[in-house]
Amino acid sequence: MTQDELKLAVAQAAISFIEPDLRADTILGIGTGSTANMFIDELAAFRTDFKGAVASSEASAERLKGHGIEVFDLNDISAMDFYIDGADEANKKLELIKGGGAALTREKIVTAVAKKFVCIADESKAVEVLGGFPLPVEVIPMSRSYVAREIVKLGGHPVYREGVVTDNGNHILDVHGMKIENPVELENNLNSIVGVVTNGLFAARPADVLLLGTAEGVKTFTVANTVAQDGNYF
Ligand code: 5RP
Repeated sequence: MTQDELKLAVAQAAISFIEPDLRADTILGIGTGSTANMFIDELAAFRTDFKGAVASSEASAERLKGHGIEVFDLNDISAMDFYIDGADEANKKLELIKGGGAALTREKIVTAVAKKFVCIADESKAVEVLGGFPLPVEVIPMSRSYVAREIVKLGGHPVYREGVVTDNGNHILDVHGMKIENPVELENNLNSIVGVVTNGLFAARPADVLLLGTAEGVKTFTVANTVAQDGNYF
């Protein structure tokens, strides 16, 4: 199967996962990226079964609206059952690297509100140790060089993602060369650098469920159980 076929399979599996819980007043949190886009496209057929969505990016909001799904401001929402989004990397604790699409800050905010974060990814994203994918860090523009120097002190090699301005008007540094053995600690350390808005480690609040598209089918992992129903670890 191609990577896109695996992404489509997990997008469809996510629909099956949430569909029994959809109610007339359900607001879904929706992520950003190619896998999330496939989920949005699959969700369109169910648009009359729930109230609407909160999007983690302007791009996802436009796609949702294009399918006739109402998009709400997060400030008007007090509860959310599910946040569904992709990832750039996932480990066995369902800690993630996200932000390849530069939407990490809004993704982390919507995740914080959701009761359950359902991560959807193809098997290329499953890793033993996070850090092979450069870790995105969103920074206030005037702090970029200062934050980069501080990241070098932590052992990383930050690269300015030139030409990219986030939906929040900020810049992205992609941190290469980090083998992230303690994701919670690094997430906190990076967030304590003045000028950092947030970083793409989702470890303090990992995913609750990972639907992983593999050549043998979609496998379901939870934080408590990183053994899939077929007995295979990822
Ligand atoms: C965007 C993200 C995406 O979830 C991540 O980059 C994965 O993208 P894709 O589904 O296209 O592989 O964090 O900021």
